[in-house]
Amino acid sequence: MTTSSSLSNEQFAFLDLKPEVGVIVDEVHRGLSLEAKAISPKFFYDERGSELFDAITELPEYYVTRTEMALFEAHMEEIAAALEENICVIEYGSGSTKKIRRLLDVLKPEAYVPVDISGDYLLSNAQALLDDFPALKIFPVCADITQSFDLPVQVNELRPLGFYPGSSIGNFEPAQAVDFLRRVHVTLGQGGYFLVGVDAKKDISILEAAYDDAAGVTAQFNLNTLVHLNEKLGADFDLDHFEHFSRYNADQGCIQMFLKSTVAQQVNLVGKVISFAEGELLHTENSYKYAKEEFIALAQSAQFECLKSWQDSNQWFSLFLLRAC
Ligand code: AVI
Repeated sequence: MTTSSSLSNEQFAFLDLKPEVGVIVDEVHRGLSLEAKAISPKFFYDERGSELFDAITELPEYYVTRTEMALFEAHMEEIAAALEENICVIEYGSGSTKKIRRLLDVLKPEAYVPVDISGDYLLSNAQALLDDFPALKIFPVCADITQSFDLPVQVNELRPLGFYPGSSIGNFEPAQAVDFLRRVHVTLGQGGYFLVGVDAKKDISILEAAYDDAAGVTAQFNLNTLVHLNEKLGADFDLDHFEHFSRYNADQGCIQMFLKSTVAQQVNLVGKVISFAEGELLHTENSYKYAKEEFIALAQSAQFECLKSWQDSNQWFSLFLLRAC
């Protein structure tokens, strides 16, 4: 663990809990050795991947972000009124600061802990926030949110509000989502709040267009996984020989994204040679869509009660305010 001393004072401290490269290599090797090759969606997010994701959120087909933002806008005061004072907002997978700025404006928390795996992006966004919120204490934590991590000691006395927007919880398998929520419960402690945005089931054509946009930004985002692995792990994926492929799996209730190998090929990855057949798929992401009742049941199995929930008029997206019981 590193706390960068040059970036550390009572108002701002950076905690670096980033996993070692060796741990990452093992995880990637394991996924690529499976019969149905798979890699975690967390590998989308290097700096370029985070930028591409920001671009996705602006696409006409990607209804998710603007629907969620409108819900926040409509219900922000109600959310604030449901919380106690002395709040510390912990944002899971913080990425860009677009959503959090509005929440910080209205909630006026004592402290903000953005948590993200993309360390440089996290730090520069957190520092930029200081200029606009000069009274706010900010303690960024570089960590893998899919694993357990401790909150900075500076926020021990505050009431935590976990914030997990954007339906990122849908990127876990349902059983993993419950495990994730159990870890969140431990991190926040009993009485901690959790505000989470969750995408709902809807017409398949709307879902499929959102994950295969006409401008090809989602395709670039998906392919960037390979650039990330080439740069970070010294792999030699040839981007000209993979293409984006996505579909809605109605049985599982999720969008699935893959990279399809367009030729028979071999890829070197830190001492291992991985063979791909022509047409073989590398699974990069599932994005589960939950009916309101389905998600409440999932949260309850991780010992969260649902204090309130909100949906837009199309019932395309839901916001839940949960409390750890
Ligand atoms: C971050 N996550 C919620 C996005 C989603 O919709 O599942 C990631 C994404 N993948 C393709 N487009 C956006």
